[in-house]
Amino acid sequence: MAIYKEKISVEESKTSKIEQVDFSKLDFGRVFTDHMFVCDYKSGKWQTPKITPYQAMTIEPSARVFHYGQAVFEGMKAYKTDEGRVFLFRPKQNFERINKSAERMAIPAFPENYFFEGLETLLNLDNDWIMPGIGNSLYIRPFVIATEPAISASPANTYRFMILCSPAQSYYNTPVRVLVAEQYSRSANGGVGAAKAAGNYAAQFYPTSLAQKEGFQQIIWTDADTHSFMEEAGTMNVFFRVNDTLLTAPVSDRILDGITRKSIIQLAEDLGITCEVRQVKVEEIKNAARDGSLKEIFGAGTAAVISEISAFQHKDELFEIADIDSDNSYAKLFKKTLMNIQYNISEDVHGWRYEV
Ligand code: COI
Repeated sequence: MAIYKEKISVEESKTSKIEQVDFSKLDFGRVFTDHMFVCDYKSGKWQTPKITPYQAMTIEPSARVFHYGQAVFEGMKAYKTDEGRVFLFRPKQNFERINKSAERMAIPAFPENYFFEGLETLLNLDNDWIMPGIGNSLYIRPFVIATEPAISASPANTYRFMILCSPAQSYYNTPVRVLVAEQYSRSANGGVGAAKAAGNYAAQFYPTSLAQKEGFQQIIWTDADTHSFMEEAGTMNVFFRVNDTLLTAPVSDRILDGITRKSIIQLAEDLGITCEVRQVKVEEIKNAARDGSLKEIFGAGTAAVISEISAFQHKDELFEIADIDSDNSYAKLFKKTLMNIQYNISEDVHGWRYEV
Protein backbone atom coordinates (compact mmCIF):
# COMPACT_ATOMS: atom_id res chain seq x y z
CA MET A 1 0.00 0.00 0.00
CA ALA A 2 2.66 2.48 1.02
CA ILE A 3 4.20 2.61 -2.40
CA TYR A 4 1.01 4.13 -3.74
CA LYS A 5 0.62 6.57 -0.87
CA GLU A 6 3.49 8.69 -2.13
CA LYS A 7 2.11 8.50 -5.62
CA ILE A 8 -1.34 10.01 -5.11
CA SER A 9 -0.87 13.65 -5.99
CA VAL A 10 -2.96 16.03 -3.94
CA GLU A 11 -3.96 19.49 -5.05
CA GLU A 12 -5.71 21.13 -2.13
CA SER A 13 -8.56 23.51 -2.66
CA LYS A 14 -7.56 27.11 -1.86
CA THR A 15 -10.96 27.93 -0.43
CA SER A 16 -13.69 25.85 1.16
CA LYS A 17 -17.41 25.94 0.34
CA ILE A 18 -18.32 24.51 3.71
CA GLU A 19 -19.48 27.83 5.20
CA GLN A 20 -22.17 28.08 2.53
CA VAL A 21 -23.77 24.76 3.47
CA ASP A 22 -26.73 24.44 5.81
CA PHE A 23 -26.09 21.01 7.30
CA SER A 24 -29.51 20.97 8.94
CA LYS A 25 -31.28 21.05 5.56
CA LEU A 26 -29.51 18.74 3.17
CA ASP A 27 -31.22 17.62 0.03
CA PHE A 28 -29.68 14.21 -0.77
CA GLY A 29 -26.78 14.33 -3.22
CA ARG A 30 -26.81 18.01 -4.18
CA VAL A 31 -23.87 19.40 -2.22
CA PHE A 32 -20.35 18.11 -2.76
CA THR A 33 -17.26 18.48 -0.61
CA ASP A 34 -14.17 20.48 -1.58
CA HIS A 35 -12.21 17.62 -3.16
CA MET A 36 -12.59 14.66 -5.49
CA PHE A 37 -10.52 11.62 -6.40
CA VAL A 38 -9.63 11.00 -10.05
CA CYS A 39 -7.79 8.12 -11.67
CA ASP A 40 -7.58 7.53 -15.41
CA TYR A 41 -7.12 4.27 -17.25
CA LYS A 42 -5.13 4.31 -20.47
CA SER A 43 -2.58 2.21 -22.33
CA GLY A 44 -3.89 -0.85 -20.51
CA LYS A 45 -3.34 0.41 -16.94
CA TRP A 46 -4.69 2.65 -14.23
CA GLN A 47 -2.52 5.77 -14.04
CA THR A 48 -1.32 7.62 -10.95
CA PRO A 49 -4.40 8.78 -9.04
CA LYS A 50 -4.87 12.36 -7.96
CA ILE A 51 -7.02 14.36 -5.64
CA THR A 52 -8.07 17.76 -6.89
CA PRO A 53 -10.54 20.44 -5.88
CA TYR A 54 -14.10 19.40 -6.80
CA GLN A 55 -14.63 20.96 -10.21
CA ALA A 56 -16.20 20.56 -13.63
CA MET A 57 -14.19 18.50 -16.10
CA THR A 58 -13.85 18.32 -19.83
CA ILE A 59 -14.84 15.12 -21.61
CA GLU A 60 -15.35 14.83 -25.32
CA PRO A 61 -18.98 14.53 -26.43
CA SER A 62 -18.08 11.32 -28.23
CA ALA A 63 -17.02 9.62 -24.96
CA ARG A 64 -18.59 6.19 -24.94
CA VAL A 65 -20.29 6.71 -21.61
CA PHE A 66 -22.61 9.26 -23.22
CA HIS A 67 -23.65 6.87 -25.97
CA TYR A 68 -23.66 3.42 -24.44
CA GLY A 69 -23.85 4.08 -20.72
CA GLN A 70 -20.70 2.14 -19.95
CA ALA A 71 -20.58 3.21 -16.30
CA VAL A 72 -20.81 1.68 -12.84
CA PHE A 73 -20.98 3.18 -9.37
CA GLU A 74 -21.07 2.47 -5.66
CA GLY A 75 -22.68 4.03 -2.61
CA MET A 76 -20.91 4.14 0.74
CA LYS A 77 -21.04 6.29 3.84
CA ALA A 78 -18.57 7.65 6.40
CA TYR A 79 -19.85 8.10 9.94
CA LYS A 80 -18.33 10.36 12.59
CA THR A 81 -18.63 9.83 16.32
CA ASP A 82 -19.03 12.68 18.81
CA GLU A 83 -15.33 12.26 19.60
CA GLY A 84 -14.46 12.88 15.96
CA ARG A 85 -13.53 9.32 14.97
CA VAL A 86 -14.51 8.42 11.41
CA PHE A 87 -15.70 4.98 10.31
CA LEU A 88 -16.68 3.29 7.09
CA PHE A 89 -19.01 0.30 7.09
CA ARG A 90 -17.79 -2.85 5.32
CA PRO A 91 -15.92 -0.87 2.61
CA LYS A 92 -14.23 -3.96 1.21
CA GLN A 93 -17.67 -5.13 0.12
CA ASN A 94 -18.12 -1.95 -1.90
CA PHE A 95 -14.69 -2.32 -3.41
CA GLU A 96 -15.39 -5.90 -4.44
CA ARG A 97 -18.81 -5.04 -5.77
CA ILE A 98 -17.66 -2.17 -7.96
CA ASN A 99 -15.20 -4.50 -9.62
CA LYS A 100 -17.89 -7.13 -10.03
CA SER A 101 -20.15 -4.54 -11.63
CA ALA A 102 -17.20 -3.34 -13.75
CA GLU A 103 -16.52 -6.85 -15.02
CA ARG A 104 -20.15 -7.21 -16.12
CA MET A 105 -19.86 -3.91 -18.01
CA ALA A 106 -16.49 -4.81 -19.61
CA ILE A 107 -14.66 -2.18 -17.53
CA PRO A 108 -11.16 -3.02 -16.20
CA ALA A 109 -10.88 -3.79 -12.48
CA PHE A 110 -9.67 -1.01 -10.20
CA PRO A 111 -6.74 -1.76 -7.84
CA GLU A 112 -7.64 -2.21 -4.17
CA ASN A 113 -4.73 -0.13 -2.87
CA TYR A 114 -5.69 2.86 -5.04
CA PHE A 115 -9.29 2.56 -3.85
CA PHE A 116 -8.45 2.57 -0.15
CA GLU A 117 -5.56 5.06 -0.32
CA GLY A 118 -7.68 7.41 -2.41
CA LEU A 119 -10.69 7.10 -0.17
CA GLU A 120 -8.76 7.64 3.04
CA THR A 121 -6.79 10.61 1.69
CA LEU A 122 -10.01 12.18 0.44
CA LEU A 123 -11.83 11.64 3.73
CA ASN A 124 -8.92 13.10 5.68
CA LEU A 125 -8.91 16.20 3.48
CA ASP A 126 -12.68 16.64 3.69
CA ASN A 127 -13.00 15.51 7.30
CA ASP A 128 -14.80 18.72 8.35
CA TRP A 129 -17.63 17.82 5.99
CA ILE A 130 -18.49 14.72 8.02
CA MET A 131 -20.94 15.89 10.65
CA PRO A 132 -20.91 13.86 13.85
CA GLY A 133 -23.92 12.15 15.32
CA ILE A 134 -26.46 9.50 14.46
CA GLY A 135 -28.27 10.27 11.21
CA ASN A 136 -25.50 12.46 9.80
CA SER A 137 -23.04 10.98 7.36
CA LEU A 138 -20.93 11.64 4.35
CA TYR A 139 -22.29 9.80 1.34
CA ILE A 140 -19.43 8.55 -0.84
CA ARG A 141 -19.93 7.95 -4.53
CA PRO A 142 -17.17 6.00 -6.32
CA PHE A 143 -17.90 5.57 -10.02
CA VAL A 144 -16.26 4.67 -13.32
CA ILE A 145 -17.08 6.05 -16.76
CA ALA A 146 -15.88 5.13 -20.24
CA THR A 147 -14.09 8.23 -21.53
CA GLU A 148 -12.74 7.10 -24.88
CA PRO A 149 -13.91 9.44 -27.65
CA ALA A 150 -15.25 6.84 -30.09
CA ILE A 151 -18.78 5.82 -30.88
CA SER A 152 -18.43 2.33 -32.28
CA ALA A 153 -20.45 0.05 -30.03
CA SER A 154 -17.62 -1.66 -28.18
CA PRO A 155 -15.89 -1.32 -24.82
CA ALA A 156 -13.71 1.75 -24.35
CA ASN A 157 -9.94 1.75 -24.10
CA THR A 158 -9.92 4.64 -21.62
CA TYR A 159 -11.85 5.12 -18.38
CA ARG A 160 -12.02 7.49 -15.44
CA PHE A 161 -12.53 6.27 -11.87
CA MET A 162 -13.69 8.98 -9.49
CA ILE A 163 -14.87 9.42 -5.93
CA LEU A 164 -17.16 12.27 -4.90
CA CYS A 165 -18.45 12.94 -1.41
CA SER A 166 -21.69 14.55 -0.38
CA PRO A 167 -22.90 15.28 3.17
CA ALA A 168 -26.16 13.43 3.80
CA GLN A 169 -28.99 12.90 6.19
CA SER A 170 -31.89 10.59 5.47
CA TYR A 171 -32.83 9.67 1.91
CA TYR A 172 -36.52 9.18 2.65
CA ASN A 173 -37.89 11.39 5.41
CA THR A 174 -41.21 9.67 5.87
CA PRO A 175 -42.43 6.10 5.39
CA VAL A 176 -42.52 5.21 1.72
CA ARG A 177 -45.57 4.15 -0.32
CA VAL A 178 -44.75 1.72 -3.10
CA LEU A 179 -46.34 0.31 -6.23
CA VAL A 180 -45.69 -3.35 -7.08
CA ALA A 181 -44.58 -3.64 -10.72
CA GLU A 182 -46.98 -5.33 -13.11
CA GLN A 183 -45.82 -4.10 -16.50
CA TYR A 184 -42.31 -2.67 -16.46
CA SER A 185 -39.25 -4.62 -15.34
CA ARG A 186 -36.01 -3.52 -13.76
CA SER A 187 -33.90 -6.46 -14.83
CA ALA A 188 -33.89 -9.75 -16.64
CA ASN A 189 -32.24 -13.14 -16.25
CA GLY A 190 -28.70 -12.87 -17.55
CA GLY A 191 -28.99 -9.07 -17.58
CA VAL A 192 -27.23 -6.45 -15.48
CA GLY A 193 -29.65 -6.14 -12.55
CA ALA A 194 -27.07 -7.33 -10.05
CA ALA A 195 -24.54 -4.74 -11.22
CA LYS A 196 -24.61 -1.17 -10.00
CA ALA A 197 -24.68 -0.11 -13.62
CA ALA A 198 -25.78 3.48 -14.25
CA GLY A 199 -28.40 2.44 -16.80
CA ASN A 200 -30.23 0.22 -14.30
CA TYR A 201 -31.22 3.35 -12.47
CA ALA A 202 -32.03 5.47 -15.53
CA ALA A 203 -34.36 2.73 -16.77
CA GLN A 204 -36.40 3.03 -13.58
CA PHE A 205 -36.99 6.76 -13.85
CA TYR A 206 -39.90 6.63 -16.28
CA PRO A 207 -41.97 3.90 -14.55
CA THR A 208 -41.15 5.47 -11.18
CA SER A 209 -42.34 8.86 -12.40
CA LEU A 210 -45.64 7.24 -13.42
CA ALA A 211 -45.90 5.68 -9.97
CA GLN A 212 -45.12 9.03 -8.37
CA LYS A 213 -48.05 10.60 -10.20
CA GLU A 214 -50.23 8.09 -8.39
CA GLY A 215 -48.71 9.00 -5.02
CA PHE A 216 -46.04 6.29 -4.68
CA GLN A 217 -42.36 7.13 -4.11
CA GLN A 218 -40.95 3.83 -5.29
CA ILE A 219 -41.68 0.65 -7.18
CA ILE A 220 -41.12 -2.82 -5.84
CA TRP A 221 -39.84 -4.60 -8.91
CA THR A 222 -41.09 -8.08 -9.64
CA ASP A 223 -39.56 -10.83 -11.77
CA ALA A 224 -39.69 -9.96 -15.46
CA ASP A 225 -41.12 -13.35 -16.55
CA THR A 226 -44.27 -13.51 -14.45
CA HIS A 227 -44.40 -10.35 -12.31
CA SER A 228 -45.41 -12.59 -9.45
CA PHE A 229 -42.38 -12.45 -7.13
CA MET A 230 -41.22 -9.44 -5.12
CA GLU A 231 -37.61 -8.57 -5.95
CA GLU A 232 -36.13 -5.20 -5.00
CA ALA A 233 -37.08 -1.55 -4.85
CA GLY A 234 -34.33 -0.15 -7.02
CA THR A 235 -32.74 2.13 -4.43
CA MET A 236 -33.01 -0.58 -1.78
CA ASN A 237 -33.56 -4.29 -1.15
CA VAL A 238 -36.87 -5.20 0.48
CA PHE A 239 -37.83 -7.16 3.60
CA PHE A 240 -41.31 -8.34 4.58
CA ARG A 241 -42.25 -9.27 8.11
CA VAL A 242 -45.03 -11.84 8.25
CA ASN A 243 -45.92 -12.51 11.88
CA ASP A 244 -42.41 -12.63 13.38
CA THR A 245 -40.59 -14.00 10.35
CA LEU A 246 -38.65 -11.88 7.91
CA LEU A 247 -38.71 -12.69 4.21
CA THR A 248 -36.42 -11.37 1.52
CA ALA A 249 -35.63 -12.43 -2.04
CA PRO A 250 -32.36 -14.25 -2.72
CA VAL A 251 -29.79 -12.30 -4.71
CA SER A 252 -29.44 -13.35 -8.32
CA ASP A 253 -28.27 -11.83 -11.56
CA ARG A 254 -31.40 -9.67 -11.35
CA ILE A 255 -31.06 -8.43 -7.77
CA LEU A 256 -28.35 -6.29 -6.21
CA ASP A 257 -26.29 -7.98 -3.52
CA GLY A 258 -26.96 -5.20 -1.03
CA ILE A 259 -24.49 -4.69 1.81
CA THR A 260 -27.20 -3.40 4.14
CA ARG A 261 -29.34 -6.37 3.07
CA LYS A 262 -26.68 -8.94 3.95
CA SER A 263 -25.95 -7.13 7.21
CA ILE A 264 -29.62 -7.35 8.21
CA ILE A 265 -29.71 -11.06 7.43
CA GLN A 266 -26.71 -11.49 9.74
CA LEU A 267 -28.18 -9.22 12.44
CA ALA A 268 -31.45 -11.17 12.31
CA GLU A 269 -29.50 -14.33 13.06
CA ASP A 270 -27.67 -12.55 15.91
CA LEU A 271 -30.98 -11.31 17.35
CA GLY A 272 -32.69 -14.71 17.04
CA ILE A 273 -35.14 -13.49 14.37
CA THR A 274 -35.96 -15.99 11.64
CA CYS A 275 -35.13 -14.62 8.21
CA GLU A 276 -36.15 -16.70 5.22
CA VAL A 277 -34.17 -15.89 2.10
CA ARG A 278 -36.43 -17.22 -0.62
CA GLN A 279 -38.70 -16.18 -3.43
CA VAL A 280 -41.51 -14.04 -2.05
CA LYS A 281 -44.81 -14.28 -3.92
CA VAL A 282 -46.78 -11.09 -4.41
CA GLU A 283 -49.96 -13.07 -3.63
CA GLU A 284 -48.49 -14.33 -0.38
CA ILE A 285 -47.82 -10.77 0.78
CA LYS A 286 -51.27 -9.63 -0.31
CA ASN A 287 -52.85 -12.50 1.61
CA ALA A 288 -50.75 -11.67 4.66
CA ALA A 289 -51.90 -8.05 4.39
CA ARG A 290 -55.51 -9.24 4.20
CA ASP A 291 -55.34 -11.56 7.19
CA GLY A 292 -53.31 -9.14 9.31
CA SER A 293 -50.15 -11.24 9.51
CA LEU A 294 -48.15 -8.73 7.43
CA LYS A 295 -46.65 -6.59 10.16
CA GLU A 296 -44.02 -4.58 8.35
CA ILE A 297 -42.28 -3.96 5.04
CA PHE A 298 -39.02 -2.08 4.88
CA GLY A 299 -36.29 -1.28 2.41
CA ALA A 300 -32.59 -1.54 3.15
CA GLY A 301 -29.77 0.26 1.39
CA THR A 302 -26.80 2.51 1.99
CA ALA A 303 -28.57 5.74 1.09
CA ALA A 304 -31.96 4.64 2.40
CA VAL A 305 -30.54 2.89 5.52
CA ILE A 306 -33.77 1.21 6.68
CA SER A 307 -36.86 2.84 5.20
CA GLU A 308 -40.25 1.83 6.44
CA ILE A 309 -42.87 1.13 3.78
CA SER A 310 -46.34 2.13 4.90
CA ALA A 311 -48.43 0.97 1.95
CA PHE A 312 -48.24 -0.98 -1.29
CA GLN A 313 -50.51 -1.22 -4.27
CA HIS A 314 -50.83 -4.10 -6.69
CA LYS A 315 -53.34 -4.34 -9.53
CA ASP A 316 -55.33 -1.38 -8.22
CA GLU A 317 -55.63 -2.92 -4.78
CA LEU A 318 -54.13 -0.73 -2.07
CA PHE A 319 -52.86 -2.23 1.19
CA GLU A 320 -52.10 0.09 4.09
CA ILE A 321 -49.86 -1.45 6.74
CA ALA A 322 -51.07 -0.73 10.24
CA ASP A 323 -48.64 1.24 12.40
CA ILE A 324 -46.62 -0.94 14.72
CA ASP A 325 -45.47 0.47 18.01
CA SER A 326 -41.82 1.45 18.10
CA ASP A 327 -40.83 -1.14 20.68
CA ASN A 328 -42.08 -3.97 18.50
CA SER A 329 -40.86 -2.74 15.13
CA TYR A 330 -38.22 -4.84 13.40
CA ALA A 331 -37.44 -1.92 11.07
CA LYS A 332 -36.61 0.29 14.04
CA LEU A 333 -34.70 -2.48 15.79
CA PHE A 334 -32.52 -3.18 12.76
CA LYS A 335 -31.97 0.50 12.09
CA LYS A 336 -30.82 1.10 15.66
CA THR A 337 -28.67 -2.02 15.78
CA LEU A 338 -27.04 -1.15 12.46
CA MET A 339 -26.44 2.48 13.34
CA ASN A 340 -25.02 1.58 16.73
CA ILE A 341 -22.40 -0.44 14.89
CA GLN A 342 -21.80 2.22 12.24
CA TYR A 343 -21.34 5.01 14.82
CA ASN A 344 -19.12 2.96 17.13
CA ILE A 345 -21.74 2.79 19.89
CA SER A 346 -22.02 -0.97 20.18
CA GLU A 347 -19.57 -3.81 19.91
CA ASP A 348 -18.57 -4.76 16.37
CA VAL A 349 -18.64 -8.54 16.63
CA HIS A 350 -18.39 -9.10 12.88
CA GLY A 351 -15.57 -6.63 12.26
CA TRP A 352 -17.69 -4.43 9.97
CA ARG A 353 -16.31 -1.06 11.08
CA TYR A 354 -13.25 0.35 9.31
CA GLU A 355 -11.67 3.34 10.98
CA VAL A 356 -10.28 6.00 8.68
C1 COI B 1 -27.17 3.56 -2.38
O1 COI B 1 -27.90 3.20 -1.47
O2 COI B 1 -26.01 3.91 -2.19
C2 COI B 1 -27.64 3.60 -3.74
O3 COI B 1 -26.92 3.25 -4.61
C3 COI B 1 -28.94 4.18 -4.01
C4 COI B 1 -28.77 5.37 -4.90
C5 COI B 1 -29.32 5.08 -6.22
C6 COI B 1 -29.27 6.62 -4.28
